[in-house]
Amino acid sequence: MLSHRSNEKEILDLGPGNYTAEEFTHCQKMLYRINKILGFFHGTVNVLKKGGEKAHVMDVGCGAGLFILNLSRYFPKMTFHGIDISSEAIDMANHEKSVFASDTSNVKFEKMAEPNLTFGENSVDVILATMVCHHMSNEEIIEFFKQALHTTKDKVIINDLHRNIIAYGFYRLFSPILFRNRLITYDGLISIKRGFIRQELITLLEQAGMKHYQVKWCFPFRWRVIIWKK
Ligand SMILES: C[S@@+](CC[C@H](N)C(=O)[O-])C[C@H]1O[C@@H](n2cnc3c(N)ncnc32)[C@H](O)[C@@H]1O
Repeated sequence: MLSHRSNEKEILDLGPGNYTAEEFTHCQKMLYRINKILGFFHGTVNVLKKGGEKAHVMDVGCGAGLFILNLSRYFPKMTFHGIDISSEAIDMANHEKSVFASDTSNVKFEKMAEPNLTFGENSVDVILATMVCHHMSNEEIIEFFKQALHTTKDKVIINDLHRNIIAYGFYRLFSPILFRNRLITYDGLISIKRGFIRQELITLLEQAGMKHYQVKWCFPFRWRVIIWKK
């Protein structure tokens, strides 16, 4: 069942006609909570701590922006630029920024005109993509790796899911009780089915021509991939 990456679409990818505004808002808030539970958030804090204090970080597929709004608390001297193909997500991110409890003058959000990264070479220090690559086809991921490496001066940090039957079973059992959100449960199961095993990530990195990278499995059932410029 999980032997290959699924190409089933998530409800969120089908667009606003397929869910209510309340479901969307609640789902985005839960996503940040899930990022914390899975360790994506603190794992990213630890990687950023090793880089420049004033780094310019671009979060591709930033969703409702809670990931970088919270990162900005840890790194007030960095600048954060969240981009997403969804205007709904960027609208919510701008709202979250306006009501965020601490200073957010170093955070901005922007709707992408197209799924490609059309920024200049070496125009940011770090590119971040959390729970985004599993939304893409293998061909799109290869193109994304190339474009991200072109855009960054230093590194690309990719956080995503391990496609694993135990993770799938646990999530199927517990997510309806824990999160009580149709999108989180239904899309979450598809996300795991669209996730990766180690060799697939390595193959995609190699096909994209990446030379300096690390693929690290982290508890529980997640991957952290770092691609360095050199
Ligand atoms: C599961 S959400 C993750 C949001 C956020 N990174 C987080 O971890 O909470 C995936 C986001 O990626 C966006 N997305 C999907 N494909 C994308 C692409 N090719 N370029 C930019 N954003 C994309 C979606 O619109 C959605 O907001």
